[in-house]
Amino acid sequence: MWLSRADQAKTTFWICGGSWRQPTFADVHCHCLPRFDDGPADNAQALALCQALVADHTGTVLATPHQLGRFDGRYDGRRVRLAVEHLNGLLAEAGLPLTVLAGADVRLDERIGELLYMDEILTVADGGRYLLLELPDEVFVDPGILLSQLGEMGIRAIISHPERHVFLAQNPGYVRRWLEYQPCLQITAGSLLGDFGVLAQRAAWVFLKECLPVLVATDAHDTGRRAPRMTAAYTRLMQHLGRPMADVLCVENPRRLLAGDDLLTLDENMVRKEVNR
Ligand SMILES: [Fe+2]
Repeated sequence: MWLSRADQAKTTFWICGGSWRQPTFADVHCHCLPRFDDGPADNAQALALCQALVADHTGTVLATPHQLGRFDGRYDGRRVRLAVEHLNGLLAEAGLPLTVLAGADVRLDERIGELLYMDEILTVADGGRYLLLELPDEVFVDPGILLSQLGEMGIRAIISHPERHVFLAQNPGYVRRWLEYQPCLQITAGSLLGDFGVLAQRAAWVFLKECLPVLVATDAHDTGRRAPRMTAAYTRLMQHLGRPMADVLCVENPRRLLAGDDLLTLDENMVRKEVNR
C-alpha cells in the first residue's frame, strides 16, 4: 500500500487541539524480558529498561527475546508468554504506564515453519500474521525460500535491522529480489543516528527509499549502550523527511504491525528526493 500525498495529509493525528504533541510509540523490537537472552539479567534491570522506554515516549513494547540460533531450545512460546505476564505484573506494581506484548526475534532457520506449528517460536504479538526474522551475522544467507514458505502460511517477515548486516548494507538493492514476498524492513533507531557506525547509518537511510514497507524500532537491550532511542530517531527523521513520513515509520507502521494490519510503503519518489538532498 502506497502512502499518497492525500494519505499523508490524513496522518495528522499528532495534532491535538491545535498544538503539536509528542507521539506515543509502540516499540516492536526490544529485549526487555528479565533472565532470557542478552537483555536484562534480573527484574530490576528489566524495570530500568522499561522506565527508559517510558521516558522515550513508548506506551507499548513488543518483547522480542532471541529464538533459535545460539538460543535454540532455551524457551518456547509458552515461556515467553508467561514472562510477558510476569513483566506486565511488575510494571503494574511499579506504576509504569507500559504494556508488554509477546513476540520473538527469530534467527533464520529452515525449521521455522515446523517450529511455529509446535508453538516453539512466536509471531509478532502472537497474531500469526508477521514474524520478526533475524539473518545470521557471520555470513549472508538469502532468506528467499523461507519468505516464500512463510507466505504460503499467510505470514509475512519483518527483516530485523538489515542495515547492520554487512552484505545487505553494502548491497542494499539486494532486498528488491524479495519484492514478491513483501517483507518489511525493520531499521534500528540507533542506526539512523550513527550508533552502529557509518556503514549501518548510510544503509539505514538508503533502505528508506527501497520499495518495501519500512518501520523503525529500538532493538534495545539495556539502559546503556543499547538504550531505546526512538524519540531521537523520530526527530532526525522529521528533520530530513518531514513529519508525515517520520510518523509512518515510527508510529503508524509499528501500530499496524501489532494490530496485524497491512503496512504502509512510503512514496518512493518523495523519499528519494529527501534522502538525496
Ligand atoms: Fe534483536
